[in-house]
Amino acid sequence: MDKDRIKAFTNKVFGDMAGAMSAGLGYIGVKTGLFRAMAGKGPMTLAQLVAATGLQSRYVEEWLKGMASAGYLAHDPAADTYQLPDEHAFMVASDETDHFMGGLFCMLPPLLRVAPRVAEAFRTGGGVPFEDYGRDGIEALDLLNRGQYEQRFASHWLKSLPEVTARLQAGGSALDFGCGAGAVVLSLARAFPQSRFTGIDRSRESIAAAQAALAASPDAASLAPRARFLAQSLADLTPGEQFDFITACDCIHDLATPVETLRQIRARLKPQGIFMVIEPKAADSVEGNGNAIGTMYYGFSVFHCMTQSLAQGGPGLGTCMGPAHIGELMKEAGFSRCDALDIRSNVLSFYAVRA
Ligand SMILES: C[S@@+](CC[C@H](N)C(=O)[O-])C[C@H]1O[C@@H](n2cnc3c(N)ncnc32)[C@H](O)[C@@H]1O
Repeated sequence: MDKDRIKAFTNKVFGDMAGAMSAGLGYIGVKTGLFRAMAGKGPMTLAQLVAATGLQSRYVEEWLKGMASAGYLAHDPAADTYQLPDEHAFMVASDETDHFMGGLFCMLPPLLRVAPRVAEAFRTGGGVPFEDYGRDGIEALDLLNRGQYEQRFASHWLKSLPEVTARLQAGGSALDFGCGAGAVVLSLARAFPQSRFTGIDRSRESIAAAQAALAASPDAASLAPRARFLAQSLADLTPGEQFDFITACDCIHDLATPVETLRQIRARLKPQGIFMVIEPKAADSVEGNGNAIGTMYYGFSVFHCMTQSLAQGGPGLGTCMGPAHIGELMKEAGFSRCDALDIRSNVLSFYAVRA
C-alpha cells in the first residue's frame, strides 16, 4: 500500500466530512437569519449578533467559530469579531435572487433525513416516495430554483427562443409540467400579461404551495385569471387541450414512466409549439461528472431523484442525465428534434424539443 495515498485519502475524507458539516452550519445560517443579520454589517461581536437576532448566545458563538473555521466568516482574534465578507453575503444572504446559494443547504435535512431508508432500499429495492420528503423538501426545491426562474427565465433564457417570446407576447398558452411550488408559472405570467399559464404537478402539497404563492402575490388580482395550478396528471387535462409552449424544469429525470409521459407532453403541444426542458447540468460519462457539481448531483440522485422514481416502480433515471441520454429519450418519445440551447449556467442544461 502507498502510504502517501493513504494520507491523501485520509485528508480527503476529513475534508468531505468538513464540507458536510459546513453545509449543515450553512443551513443554520440561512434558516435562523444569521447570514442576513451579518450581511453588510462589517465586523460584529458575538453580543452584537445576539442582540441583532435574538438567538441563543451559546449556539451563536459555536456557529460563529465553526463558520470561521470553514472560511465562511473572517475572524479578528484581537477584537474577537466576526465578519461575513460582502462576496459571501452576495451568495448566502441574498434570498430571492438568481445568485443565492443558500437553497442548496436547505436540501440537506430532507435528503439526509431519509438516508436510513435509502440504505435499506439498497437491499430491498423500492425507494422513498416524493411525498415523504415533506413540506421542507418542497420548500428547499423552491428556494433552490425560484430566484433563477424569477430573474432569468423570461428576461434571459427565453432570448434563445424568440419565437416563444413572440407567441407569448401576442397571447398564447403555456404549461409548466411538474411545476412544484409554481415559480415558473408565476414569473412567466408576470412577464407575458397577454398569455395564460397552467402548472400541473402530481404532488398535492406542491400545488397547495403554488396556489398559496399565487394568493400571496401582491399582483394576485392580475395573475389569478391567467394562472392556474392543478394537482393532476396530463391525462386529466381537458381532452384535446394543447399549448404553444410547454416547460419541464428539473423534473424529466424524476419521472416514473418517462417515455409514456413525454409522449403525453408531445400530444399536448400545438403545431410548431416548443417544449423547453431544463435539467441539472451533467455529462453523459462518469468522468465528465468528476467535479463538485457532479458529485453533489449524484448525492441528490441517490437521496432523492433516482430513489423517488424507483419508489414508484420507475426506472430511476437519476439526476445526471447528459445531453446524449436526454436526446435518446426524446427520440424514443417521438419528438423530431432536441436541440441544446446555448444558455450559460454552471448548474443547468437547456433544450428546445420539437414534435
Ligand atoms: C425536482 S421537482 C421540480 C419542481 C419545479 N419544476 C422546480 O423546478 O423547482 C420535480 C417535480 O416533478 C413532479 N412530478 C414528477 N413526476 C410527475 C408526473 N408524472 N406528473 C406531474 N408532476 C410530476 C414532482 O411532483 C415534483 O414537484
